[in-house]
Amino acid sequence: MEMHYSSNENVNNALFFLIFVFMLVIILAKIKLRRTSAPIPPGPFSWPVIGNLLQLRSNPHIKLKNMAQTYGPIMSLRLGARLVVVGLSPKAASEILKTHDSILSARHLSYTHPSSSPKLNKFAIGFAKECNEHWKNLRSICRVGLFSARAVQSQVKIREKNVANLVKYLHTKEGEVVDMSDLIFKLTLNTMGNILFSMDLFEFGPEENHSPGAQLKVLIAKFINLLASPNLADIFPILRRWDIQGKQKMAKDIHEKMFTIWNQTLKERREKKNIIREDFLDTLLDIGFNDDQINHLLLELLLAGTDTTKIIIIWALSNLIKNKNEMYKVRVELQTNIGDKILEESDIMVLPYLQACVKETIRMHPPIPFLLPHRATETCNVMNFTIPKGSQVLVNTWAMANDPSIWDDPSSYRPERFLDSGIDFKGNNFEFVPFGLGRRMCPGLPMAFAQVQYVVVCLVNTFNWFVPRDNDLDELDMEEVYHLAMRKKNPLEVIPRAVNQWIDIMKIGE
Ligand code: HEM
Repeated sequence: MEMHYSSNENVNNALFFLIFVFMLVIILAKIKLRRTSAPIPPGPFSWPVIGNLLQLRSNPHIKLKNMAQTYGPIMSLRLGARLVVVGLSPKAASEILKTHDSILSARHLSYTHPSSSPKLNKFAIGFAKECNEHWKNLRSICRVGLFSARAVQSQVKIREKNVANLVKYLHTKEGEVVDMSDLIFKLTLNTMGNILFSMDLFEFGPEENHSPGAQLKVLIAKFINLLASPNLADIFPILRRWDIQGKQKMAKDIHEKMFTIWNQTLKERREKKNIIREDFLDTLLDIGFNDDQINHLLLELLLAGTDTTKIIIIWALSNLIKNKNEMYKVRVELQTNIGDKILEESDIMVLPYLQACVKETIRMHPPIPFLLPHRATETCNVMNFTIPKGSQVLVNTWAMANDPSIWDDPSSYRPERFLDSGIDFKGNNFEFVPFGLGRRMCPGLPMAFAQVQYVVVCLVNTFNWFVPRDNDLDELDMEEVYHLAMRKKNPLEVIPRAVNQWIDIMKIGE
Protein backbone atom coordinates (compact mmCIF):
# COMPACT_ATOMS: atom_id res chain seq x y z
CA MET A 1 0.00 0.00 0.00
CA GLU A 2 2.82 2.29 0.99
CA MET A 3 4.76 1.28 -2.11
CA HIS A 4 1.74 2.07 -4.29
CA TYR A 5 1.35 5.53 -2.69
CA SER A 6 5.01 6.48 -3.27
CA SER A 7 4.96 5.36 -6.92
CA ASN A 8 1.87 7.55 -7.45
CA GLU A 9 3.72 10.43 -5.86
CA ASN A 10 6.65 9.87 -8.21
CA VAL A 11 4.38 9.97 -11.22
CA ASN A 12 2.81 13.22 -9.96
CA ASN A 13 6.19 14.78 -9.35
CA ALA A 14 7.38 13.81 -12.79
CA LEU A 15 4.19 15.28 -14.30
CA PHE A 16 4.61 18.55 -12.41
CA PHE A 17 8.20 18.72 -13.45
CA LEU A 18 7.30 18.20 -17.09
CA ILE A 19 4.57 20.88 -16.93
CA PHE A 20 7.00 23.24 -15.21
CA VAL A 21 9.65 22.70 -17.89
CA PHE A 22 7.05 23.09 -20.63
CA MET A 23 5.82 26.40 -19.19
CA LEU A 24 9.36 27.63 -18.67
CA VAL A 25 10.18 26.90 -22.30
CA ILE A 26 7.09 28.86 -23.43
CA ILE A 27 7.91 31.83 -21.18
CA LEU A 28 11.55 31.89 -22.31
CA ALA A 29 10.49 31.61 -25.94
CA LYS A 30 8.11 34.55 -25.47
CA ILE A 31 10.81 36.64 -23.79
CA LYS A 32 13.20 35.80 -26.62
CA LEU A 33 10.55 36.68 -29.23
CA ARG A 34 9.88 39.97 -27.49
CA ARG A 35 13.60 40.73 -27.45
CA THR A 36 14.17 39.80 -31.08
CA SER A 37 10.98 41.21 -32.67
CA ALA A 38 10.74 44.97 -32.81
CA PRO A 39 8.06 46.75 -30.74
CA ILE A 40 4.95 48.21 -32.31
CA PRO A 41 5.25 51.96 -33.03
CA PRO A 42 4.87 54.19 -29.97
CA GLY A 43 1.66 56.09 -29.34
CA PRO A 44 -0.50 57.81 -26.75
CA PHE A 45 -2.15 56.01 -23.85
CA SER A 46 -5.28 54.25 -25.04
CA TRP A 47 -8.36 53.58 -22.92
CA PRO A 48 -9.64 50.05 -22.49
CA VAL A 49 -12.34 49.11 -25.00
CA ILE A 50 -12.56 52.44 -26.88
CA GLY A 51 -8.83 53.03 -27.28
CA ASN A 52 -8.03 56.52 -28.64
CA LEU A 53 -11.41 57.07 -30.29
CA LEU A 54 -12.34 60.16 -28.31
CA GLN A 55 -9.02 61.86 -29.00
CA LEU A 56 -9.57 61.78 -32.75
CA ARG A 57 -13.11 63.00 -33.08
CA SER A 58 -12.39 66.30 -34.82
CA ASN A 59 -9.53 67.35 -37.12
CA PRO A 60 -7.62 64.06 -36.71
CA HIS A 61 -5.04 65.13 -39.32
CA ILE A 62 -3.95 68.05 -37.11
CA LYS A 63 -4.11 66.10 -33.85
CA LEU A 64 -1.99 63.28 -35.23
CA LYS A 65 0.56 65.76 -36.58
CA ASN A 66 0.85 67.30 -33.12
CA MET A 67 1.14 63.88 -31.46
CA ALA A 68 4.00 62.99 -33.81
CA GLN A 69 6.11 65.61 -32.03
CA THR A 70 5.99 63.32 -28.99
CA TYR A 71 5.93 59.88 -30.59
CA GLY A 72 7.87 60.33 -33.81
CA PRO A 73 7.15 59.91 -37.53
CA ILE A 74 5.54 56.50 -37.18
CA MET A 75 3.09 56.01 -34.37
CA SER A 76 0.25 53.74 -33.36
CA LEU A 77 -3.17 54.16 -31.79
CA ARG A 78 -6.08 51.95 -30.96
CA LEU A 79 -9.56 52.43 -32.31
CA GLY A 80 -11.51 49.91 -30.27
CA ALA A 81 -9.88 46.56 -30.87
CA ARG A 82 -8.07 47.74 -33.98
CA LEU A 83 -4.43 48.79 -34.09
CA VAL A 84 -3.90 51.80 -36.36
CA VAL A 85 -0.41 52.71 -37.54
CA VAL A 86 0.16 56.20 -38.93
CA GLY A 87 3.15 57.33 -41.01
CA LEU A 88 3.90 61.04 -40.93
CA SER A 89 7.24 61.56 -42.67
CA PRO A 90 8.57 61.04 -46.21
CA LYS A 91 10.65 58.09 -44.94
CA ALA A 92 7.55 56.48 -43.38
CA ALA A 93 5.56 57.15 -46.57
CA SER A 94 8.25 55.58 -48.74
CA GLU A 95 8.47 52.46 -46.53
CA ILE A 96 4.68 52.05 -46.32
CA LEU A 97 3.77 52.91 -49.91
CA LYS A 98 6.84 51.64 -51.74
CA THR A 99 9.14 49.25 -49.83
CA HIS A 100 6.29 47.27 -48.20
CA ASP A 101 3.68 48.06 -50.85
CA SER A 102 2.85 44.40 -51.48
CA ILE A 103 2.06 43.72 -47.80
CA LEU A 104 0.47 47.04 -46.89
CA SER A 105 -1.80 47.65 -49.88
CA ALA A 106 -4.85 45.73 -48.72
CA ARG A 107 -7.79 47.93 -47.77
CA HIS A 108 -9.31 48.45 -44.38
CA LEU A 109 -13.05 48.86 -44.92
CA SER A 110 -15.76 49.99 -42.56
CA TYR A 111 -18.43 47.39 -41.92
CA THR A 112 -20.97 50.05 -42.97
CA HIS A 113 -19.71 49.90 -46.54
CA PRO A 114 -21.68 47.41 -48.64
CA SER A 115 -18.42 46.38 -50.32
CA SER A 116 -17.26 44.91 -47.02
CA SER A 117 -19.45 41.90 -47.83
CA PRO A 118 -17.48 39.25 -49.78
CA LYS A 119 -20.22 39.06 -52.43
CA LEU A 120 -19.98 42.75 -53.34
CA ASN A 121 -16.28 43.15 -52.68
CA LYS A 122 -15.37 41.51 -55.97
CA PHE A 123 -17.04 44.41 -57.82
CA ALA A 124 -14.92 47.07 -56.10
CA ILE A 125 -11.64 48.87 -56.92
CA GLY A 126 -10.89 51.38 -54.18
CA PHE A 127 -12.98 49.39 -51.74
CA ALA A 128 -11.49 46.04 -52.82
CA LYS A 129 -10.14 44.48 -49.64
CA GLU A 130 -7.26 42.75 -51.45
CA CYS A 131 -5.23 43.62 -54.51
CA ASN A 132 -6.50 40.46 -56.20
CA GLU A 133 -7.31 39.49 -59.78
CA HIS A 134 -10.75 41.21 -59.71
CA TRP A 135 -9.13 44.44 -58.55
CA LYS A 136 -6.34 44.19 -61.15
CA ASN A 137 -8.85 43.59 -63.90
CA LEU A 138 -11.06 46.54 -62.91
CA ARG A 139 -8.09 48.88 -62.60
CA SER A 140 -6.86 47.87 -66.00
CA ILE A 141 -10.31 48.35 -67.59
CA CYS A 142 -10.54 51.83 -66.03
CA ARG A 143 -7.00 52.71 -67.05
CA VAL A 144 -7.64 51.91 -70.69
CA GLY A 145 -11.19 53.28 -70.85
CA LEU A 146 -10.89 56.37 -68.64
CA PHE A 147 -7.46 57.37 -67.43
CA SER A 148 -4.86 56.70 -70.14
CA ALA A 149 -3.51 59.76 -71.99
CA ARG A 150 -5.64 58.73 -74.98
CA ALA A 151 -8.81 58.32 -72.92
CA VAL A 152 -8.33 61.64 -71.08
CA GLN A 153 -7.75 63.33 -74.44
CA SER A 154 -10.97 61.81 -75.82
CA GLN A 155 -12.95 63.43 -72.96
CA VAL A 156 -11.75 66.98 -73.68
CA LYS A 157 -14.93 68.04 -75.48
CA ILE A 158 -17.09 66.82 -72.60
CA ARG A 159 -15.11 68.82 -70.05
CA GLU A 160 -15.05 71.91 -72.28
CA LYS A 161 -18.80 71.73 -72.96
CA ASN A 162 -19.64 71.36 -69.27
CA VAL A 163 -17.45 74.27 -68.23
CA ALA A 164 -19.06 76.34 -71.00
CA ASN A 165 -22.51 75.54 -69.62
CA LEU A 166 -21.45 76.68 -66.18
CA VAL A 167 -19.88 79.88 -67.54
CA LYS A 168 -23.06 80.68 -69.48
CA TYR A 169 -25.16 80.09 -66.40
CA LEU A 170 -22.89 82.30 -64.29
CA HIS A 171 -23.40 85.09 -66.81
CA THR A 172 -27.09 85.02 -66.02
CA LYS A 173 -26.18 85.42 -62.35
CA GLU A 174 -23.77 88.31 -62.82
CA GLY A 175 -23.78 90.60 -59.79
CA GLU A 176 -25.62 88.07 -57.63
CA VAL A 177 -24.23 85.92 -54.83
CA VAL A 178 -23.70 82.37 -56.12
CA ASP A 179 -22.86 79.24 -54.16
CA MET A 180 -19.83 78.01 -56.10
CA SER A 181 -19.46 74.90 -53.91
CA ASP A 182 -22.87 73.74 -55.06
CA LEU A 183 -22.34 74.69 -58.70
CA ILE A 184 -18.91 73.06 -58.95
CA PHE A 185 -20.26 69.86 -57.45
CA LYS A 186 -22.96 69.85 -60.12
CA LEU A 187 -20.33 70.52 -62.76
CA THR A 188 -18.14 67.60 -61.68
CA LEU A 189 -21.14 65.29 -61.41
CA ASN A 190 -22.33 66.31 -64.87
CA THR A 191 -18.90 65.80 -66.38
CA MET A 192 -18.58 62.33 -64.83
CA GLY A 193 -22.15 61.46 -65.83
CA ASN A 194 -21.30 62.33 -69.43
CA ILE A 195 -17.98 60.52 -69.47
CA LEU A 196 -19.40 57.39 -67.87
CA PHE A 197 -22.84 57.03 -69.46
CA SER A 198 -23.50 60.12 -71.61
CA MET A 199 -26.05 61.58 -69.24
CA ASP A 200 -26.55 65.22 -68.21
CA LEU A 201 -27.35 64.77 -64.55
CA PHE A 202 -28.04 68.49 -64.03
CA GLU A 203 -29.33 71.38 -66.07
CA PHE A 204 -28.02 74.61 -64.58
CA GLY A 205 -30.99 76.83 -63.99
CA PRO A 206 -34.46 76.81 -62.45
CA GLU A 207 -35.05 73.14 -63.27
CA GLU A 208 -31.85 71.91 -61.62
CA ASN A 209 -33.50 70.78 -58.40
CA HIS A 210 -35.76 68.36 -60.30
CA SER A 211 -32.97 66.69 -62.25
CA PRO A 212 -31.65 63.17 -61.49
CA GLY A 213 -28.43 64.81 -60.32
CA ALA A 214 -30.30 66.57 -57.51
CA GLN A 215 -31.39 63.19 -56.16
CA LEU A 216 -27.88 61.80 -56.65
CA LYS A 217 -26.39 64.75 -54.77
CA VAL A 218 -28.63 64.07 -51.77
CA LEU A 219 -27.81 60.35 -51.87
CA ILE A 220 -24.06 60.97 -52.05
CA ALA A 221 -24.29 63.33 -49.05
CA LYS A 222 -26.28 60.72 -47.11
CA PHE A 223 -23.76 58.02 -47.96
CA ILE A 224 -20.82 60.21 -46.86
CA ASN A 225 -22.60 61.03 -43.58
CA LEU A 226 -23.26 57.36 -42.98
CA LEU A 227 -19.64 56.36 -43.59
CA ALA A 228 -18.35 59.25 -41.49
CA SER A 229 -20.38 58.27 -38.43
CA PRO A 230 -18.91 55.46 -36.28
CA ASN A 231 -20.18 51.93 -36.60
CA LEU A 232 -19.90 49.86 -33.40
CA ALA A 233 -19.15 46.82 -35.53
CA ASP A 234 -15.88 48.46 -36.62
CA ILE A 235 -14.88 48.92 -32.99
CA PHE A 236 -16.12 45.53 -31.75
CA PRO A 237 -15.79 43.10 -34.69
CA ILE A 238 -17.84 40.52 -32.79
CA LEU A 239 -20.93 42.64 -33.59
CA ARG A 240 -20.43 42.25 -37.33
CA ARG A 241 -22.84 39.37 -37.54
CA TRP A 242 -25.87 41.43 -36.68
CA ASP A 243 -25.55 44.96 -38.18
CA ILE A 244 -27.17 46.15 -34.96
CA GLN A 245 -27.19 49.81 -35.99
CA GLY A 246 -28.61 48.87 -39.37
CA LYS A 247 -25.92 50.95 -41.08
CA GLN A 248 -24.92 48.40 -43.67
CA LYS A 249 -28.54 47.99 -44.65
CA MET A 250 -28.99 51.76 -44.93
CA ALA A 251 -25.86 51.99 -47.09
CA LYS A 252 -27.13 49.20 -49.34
CA ASP A 253 -30.47 51.00 -49.72
CA ILE A 254 -28.69 54.20 -50.72
CA HIS A 255 -26.70 52.26 -53.32
CA GLU A 256 -29.85 50.70 -54.74
CA LYS A 257 -31.44 54.14 -55.06
CA MET A 258 -28.35 55.46 -56.82
CA PHE A 259 -28.46 52.61 -59.32
CA THR A 260 -31.99 53.63 -60.36
CA ILE A 261 -30.58 56.88 -61.74
CA TRP A 262 -28.87 55.16 -64.66
CA ASN A 263 -30.84 51.89 -64.71
CA GLN A 264 -33.12 53.03 -67.52
CA THR A 265 -30.11 54.02 -69.63
CA LEU A 266 -28.49 50.67 -68.89
CA LYS A 267 -31.66 48.81 -69.84
CA GLU A 268 -32.04 50.71 -73.11
CA ARG A 269 -28.42 50.12 -74.03
CA ARG A 270 -28.79 46.42 -73.40
CA GLU A 271 -31.87 46.37 -75.60
CA LYS A 272 -29.97 48.49 -78.10
CA LYS A 273 -32.82 51.03 -78.17
CA ASN A 274 -30.27 53.80 -77.91
CA ILE A 275 -27.67 54.85 -80.41
CA ILE A 276 -24.25 53.51 -79.49
CA ARG A 277 -22.52 56.34 -77.61
CA GLU A 278 -19.09 54.77 -77.22
CA ASP A 279 -18.81 55.93 -73.67
CA PHE A 280 -17.50 53.96 -70.68
CA LEU A 281 -20.84 52.20 -70.24
CA ASP A 282 -20.55 50.83 -73.77
CA THR A 283 -17.04 49.60 -72.98
CA LEU A 284 -18.39 47.71 -69.97
CA LEU A 285 -21.24 46.22 -72.01
CA ASP A 286 -18.82 45.16 -74.75
CA ILE A 287 -16.68 43.37 -72.17
CA GLY A 288 -19.79 41.49 -71.06
CA PHE A 289 -20.20 42.92 -67.56
CA ASN A 290 -23.47 42.08 -65.81
CA ASP A 291 -25.70 44.72 -64.19
CA ASP A 292 -24.22 44.23 -60.72
CA GLN A 293 -20.68 44.74 -61.99
CA ILE A 294 -21.69 47.83 -63.97
CA ASN A 295 -23.74 49.42 -61.20
CA HIS A 296 -21.08 49.06 -58.52
CA LEU A 297 -18.26 50.25 -60.75
CA LEU A 298 -20.16 53.32 -62.02
CA LEU A 299 -21.16 54.20 -58.49
CA GLU A 300 -17.63 53.90 -57.17
CA LEU A 301 -16.23 56.07 -59.95
CA LEU A 302 -18.89 58.73 -59.36
CA LEU A 303 -18.11 58.74 -55.65
CA ALA A 304 -14.33 58.76 -56.11
CA GLY A 305 -14.20 61.34 -58.86
CA THR A 306 -16.74 64.06 -58.09
CA ASP A 307 -16.36 65.19 -54.50
CA THR A 308 -12.54 65.13 -54.54
CA THR A 309 -12.34 67.14 -57.77
CA LYS A 310 -14.91 69.64 -56.53
CA ILE A 311 -13.00 70.10 -53.25
CA ILE A 312 -9.80 71.02 -55.08
CA ILE A 313 -11.52 73.39 -57.52
CA ILE A 314 -13.18 75.21 -54.63
CA TRP A 315 -9.92 75.54 -52.69
CA ALA A 316 -8.06 76.67 -55.82
CA LEU A 317 -10.62 79.35 -56.58
CA SER A 318 -10.81 80.46 -52.94
CA ASN A 319 -7.03 80.76 -52.76
CA LEU A 320 -6.90 82.90 -55.89
CA ILE A 321 -9.74 85.17 -54.78
CA LYS A 322 -8.08 85.58 -51.39
CA ASN A 323 -4.60 86.22 -52.83
CA LYS A 324 -4.90 89.13 -55.24
CA ASN A 325 -1.24 89.13 -56.30
CA GLU A 326 -1.36 85.51 -57.37
CA MET A 327 -4.67 86.11 -59.18
CA TYR A 328 -3.03 88.99 -61.01
CA LYS A 329 -0.08 86.80 -62.02
CA VAL A 330 -2.43 84.14 -63.43
CA ARG A 331 -4.19 86.83 -65.46
CA VAL A 332 -0.93 88.26 -66.76
CA GLU A 333 0.18 84.77 -67.77
CA LEU A 334 -3.14 84.26 -69.53
CA GLN A 335 -2.88 87.55 -71.41
CA THR A 336 0.73 86.91 -72.38
CA ASN A 337 0.43 83.28 -73.45
CA ILE A 338 -3.16 82.99 -74.65
CA GLY A 339 -4.37 86.49 -75.42
CA ASP A 340 -7.95 86.92 -76.52
CA LYS A 341 -8.51 83.53 -78.06
CA ILE A 342 -11.04 81.14 -76.57
CA LEU A 343 -9.46 78.91 -73.95
CA GLU A 344 -9.03 75.25 -74.72
CA GLU A 345 -7.94 72.54 -72.34
CA SER A 346 -4.68 72.05 -74.23
CA ASP A 347 -3.73 75.69 -73.43
CA ILE A 348 -2.94 74.62 -69.87
CA MET A 349 0.43 73.40 -71.18
CA VAL A 350 1.56 77.01 -71.65
CA LEU A 351 0.33 78.19 -68.25
CA PRO A 352 3.01 77.06 -65.75
CA TYR A 353 2.00 79.60 -63.12
CA LEU A 354 -1.59 78.39 -63.17
CA GLN A 355 -0.32 74.81 -62.83
CA ALA A 356 1.80 75.88 -59.85
CA CYS A 357 -1.29 77.49 -58.23
CA VAL A 358 -3.19 74.20 -58.52
CA LYS A 359 -0.27 72.18 -57.12
CA GLU A 360 0.07 74.60 -54.21
CA THR A 361 -3.66 74.21 -53.52
CA ILE A 362 -3.38 70.41 -53.54
CA ARG A 363 -0.38 70.66 -51.18
CA MET A 364 -2.23 72.85 -48.71
CA HIS A 365 -5.56 71.04 -48.92
CA PRO A 366 -5.13 67.36 -49.84
CA PRO A 367 -8.78 66.20 -50.02
CA ILE A 368 -7.97 62.75 -48.62
CA PRO A 369 -5.40 63.65 -45.98
CA PHE A 370 -4.82 60.05 -44.77
CA LEU A 371 -5.23 58.40 -48.20
CA LEU A 372 -7.85 55.63 -48.07
CA PRO A 373 -7.05 53.32 -45.14
CA HIS A 374 -4.62 50.52 -46.00
CA ARG A 375 -4.34 47.19 -44.14
CA ALA A 376 -1.41 44.86 -43.44
CA THR A 377 -1.90 41.37 -44.88
CA GLU A 378 1.20 40.10 -43.02
CA THR A 379 3.24 41.24 -40.06
CA CYS A 380 6.11 43.39 -41.27
CA ASN A 381 8.81 45.71 -40.04
CA VAL A 382 8.68 49.42 -40.89
CA MET A 383 11.40 51.77 -39.62
CA ASN A 384 12.38 49.16 -36.99
CA PHE A 385 8.84 48.81 -35.64
CA THR A 386 6.55 45.84 -36.02
CA ILE A 387 3.30 46.36 -37.89
CA PRO A 388 1.18 43.34 -36.95
CA LYS A 389 -0.93 41.54 -39.53
CA GLY A 390 -4.42 43.09 -39.75
CA SER A 391 -3.36 46.59 -38.60
CA GLN A 392 -4.95 49.55 -40.32
CA VAL A 393 -2.25 51.69 -41.94
CA LEU A 394 -2.57 55.41 -42.71
CA VAL A 395 -0.23 57.99 -44.20
CA ASN A 396 -0.88 61.54 -43.02
CA THR A 397 -0.13 63.42 -46.25
CA TRP A 398 -1.47 66.62 -44.73
CA ALA A 399 1.13 66.48 -41.93
CA MET A 400 3.95 66.19 -44.45
CA ALA A 401 2.54 68.96 -46.63
CA ASN A 402 2.46 71.23 -43.58
CA ASP A 403 5.85 70.31 -42.13
CA PRO A 404 8.16 73.36 -41.87
CA SER A 405 11.23 71.10 -42.04
CA ILE A 406 10.11 70.10 -45.55
CA TRP A 407 8.42 73.24 -46.91
CA ASP A 408 9.43 76.80 -46.32
CA ASP A 409 6.57 78.62 -44.53
CA PRO A 410 4.09 75.80 -45.26
CA SER A 411 0.95 77.61 -44.12
CA SER A 412 1.43 80.37 -46.72
CA TYR A 413 0.01 80.13 -50.21
CA ARG A 414 3.12 80.41 -52.39
CA PRO A 415 2.67 78.84 -55.85
CA GLU A 416 6.20 80.00 -56.76
CA ARG A 417 7.60 77.11 -54.73
CA PHE A 418 6.50 74.78 -57.53
CA LEU A 419 7.98 76.81 -60.39
CA ASP A 420 11.10 75.05 -61.69
CA SER A 421 11.21 72.92 -58.52
CA GLY A 422 10.66 69.57 -60.19
CA ILE A 423 8.51 68.49 -57.20
CA ASP A 424 5.41 66.71 -58.31
CA PHE A 425 2.73 64.43 -56.92
CA LYS A 426 3.24 61.66 -59.44
CA GLY A 427 5.13 59.36 -57.09
CA ASN A 428 8.76 60.49 -56.98
CA ASN A 429 8.50 62.86 -54.03
CA PHE A 430 7.44 61.07 -50.87
CA GLU A 431 6.81 64.37 -49.08
CA PHE A 432 4.01 65.16 -51.53
CA VAL A 433 1.68 62.21 -52.08
CA PRO A 434 -1.91 63.60 -52.11
CA PHE A 435 -2.93 60.91 -54.63
CA GLY A 436 -1.09 58.11 -52.82
CA LEU A 437 1.66 56.02 -54.34
CA GLY A 438 2.31 52.44 -55.38
CA ARG A 439 -0.32 49.94 -56.39
CA ARG A 440 -3.20 51.79 -54.68
CA MET A 441 -2.29 55.18 -56.12
CA CYS A 442 -5.28 57.14 -57.42
CA PRO A 443 -5.80 56.00 -61.01
CA GLY A 444 -7.97 59.08 -61.71
CA LEU A 445 -5.12 61.58 -61.28
CA PRO A 446 -4.70 62.47 -64.98
CA MET A 447 -8.43 63.04 -65.40
CA ALA A 448 -8.75 65.02 -62.17
CA PHE A 449 -5.75 67.24 -62.84
CA ALA A 450 -6.95 68.04 -66.37
CA GLN A 451 -10.38 69.02 -65.11
CA VAL A 452 -9.29 71.04 -62.08
CA GLN A 453 -6.84 73.18 -64.09
CA TYR A 454 -9.24 73.86 -66.94
CA VAL A 455 -12.18 74.78 -64.72
CA VAL A 456 -10.08 77.11 -62.57
CA VAL A 457 -8.49 78.89 -65.51
CA CYS A 458 -11.84 79.37 -67.27
CA LEU A 459 -13.46 80.83 -64.16
CA VAL A 460 -10.54 83.18 -63.58
CA ASN A 461 -10.36 84.21 -67.20
CA THR A 462 -14.04 84.95 -67.55
CA PHE A 463 -15.02 86.58 -64.28
CA ASN A 464 -13.85 88.88 -61.58
CA TRP A 465 -14.88 87.44 -58.24
CA PHE A 466 -16.12 89.52 -55.36
CA VAL A 467 -16.79 88.62 -51.76
CA PRO A 468 -20.29 89.66 -50.61
CA ARG A 469 -20.38 92.70 -48.34
CA ASP A 470 -17.88 95.24 -49.72
CA ASN A 471 -15.46 92.67 -51.09
CA ASP A 472 -13.77 92.41 -47.71
CA LEU A 473 -11.34 89.51 -48.28
CA ASP A 474 -11.17 88.87 -44.54
CA GLU A 475 -14.78 87.76 -44.85
CA LEU A 476 -13.68 84.91 -47.11
CA ASP A 477 -13.03 82.22 -44.52
CA MET A 478 -10.67 79.37 -45.32
CA GLU A 479 -11.72 77.07 -42.51
CA GLU A 480 -11.31 73.34 -43.15
CA VAL A 481 -13.42 70.52 -41.88
CA TYR A 482 -12.60 66.82 -41.96
CA HIS A 483 -15.66 64.85 -42.96
CA LEU A 484 -14.32 61.72 -44.62
CA ALA A 485 -12.56 64.15 -46.95
CA MET A 486 -11.07 67.49 -46.02
CA ARG A 487 -13.29 70.20 -47.40
CA LYS A 488 -13.94 73.90 -47.01
CA LYS A 489 -16.17 74.20 -43.97
CA ASN A 490 -18.48 76.85 -45.40
CA PRO A 491 -19.62 77.03 -49.01
CA LEU A 492 -17.76 79.45 -51.27
CA GLU A 493 -20.31 82.22 -51.81
CA VAL A 494 -19.08 84.91 -54.19
CA ILE A 495 -20.29 87.38 -56.80
CA PRO A 496 -19.15 86.92 -60.42
CA ARG A 497 -18.72 89.88 -62.78
CA ALA A 498 -17.70 89.29 -66.37
CA VAL A 499 -14.16 90.34 -67.13
CA ASN A 500 -13.51 89.39 -70.74
CA GLN A 501 -16.40 91.14 -72.44
CA TRP A 502 -14.78 90.54 -75.80
CA ILE A 503 -14.94 86.76 -75.44
CA ASP A 504 -17.98 85.35 -77.13
CA ILE A 505 -19.07 83.16 -74.23
CA MET A 506 -21.40 81.15 -76.39
CA LYS A 507 -18.43 79.83 -78.35
CA ILE A 508 -16.60 78.32 -75.36
CA GLY A 509 -16.67 74.56 -75.60
CA GLU A 510 -17.71 74.43 -79.25
C1 HEM B 1 -8.28 65.94 -57.06
C2 HEM B 1 -8.94 64.82 -57.16
C3 HEM B 1 -8.55 63.50 -56.54
C4 HEM B 1 -7.76 63.22 -55.45
C5 HEM B 1 -7.03 64.20 -54.56
C6 HEM B 1 -7.75 61.78 -55.30
C7 HEM B 1 -7.05 61.10 -54.31
C8 HEM B 1 -7.10 59.73 -54.14
C9 HEM B 1 -6.46 59.04 -53.05
C10 HEM B 1 -5.64 59.70 -51.96
C11 HEM B 1 -6.70 57.72 -53.21
C12 HEM B 1 -6.26 56.60 -52.27
C13 HEM B 1 -4.85 56.16 -52.51
C14 HEM B 1 -4.43 55.10 -51.52
O1 HEM B 1 -5.27 54.38 -51.00
O2 HEM B 1 -3.24 54.99 -51.24
C15 HEM B 1 -7.52 57.57 -54.38
C16 HEM B 1 -7.97 56.37 -54.85
C17 HEM B 1 -8.79 56.26 -55.93
N1 HEM B 1 -9.21 57.27 -56.77
FE1 HEM B 1 -8.77 59.22 -56.60
N2 HEM B 1 -8.50 61.22 -56.30
C18 HEM B 1 -9.00 62.23 -57.09
C19 HEM B 1 -9.78 62.09 -58.20
C20 HEM B 1 -10.21 60.91 -58.72
C21 HEM B 1 -10.99 60.76 -59.93
C22 HEM B 1 -11.43 61.90 -60.85
C23 HEM B 1 -11.26 59.42 -60.06
C24 HEM B 1 -12.05 58.70 -61.11
C25 HEM B 1 -13.00 59.14 -61.82
C26 HEM B 1 -10.62 58.74 -58.95
C27 HEM B 1 -10.67 57.38 -58.73
C28 HEM B 1 -10.03 56.72 -57.71
C29 HEM B 1 -10.11 55.28 -57.50
C30 HEM B 1 -10.91 54.28 -58.35
C31 HEM B 1 -9.32 55.00 -56.39
C32 HEM B 1 -9.07 53.63 -55.75
C33 HEM B 1 -7.76 53.04 -56.23
C34 HEM B 1 -7.45 51.68 -55.60
O3 HEM B 1 -7.73 51.47 -54.45
O4 HEM B 1 -6.89 50.83 -56.31
N3 HEM B 1 -9.99 59.66 -58.17
N4 HEM B 1 -7.74 58.82 -54.94
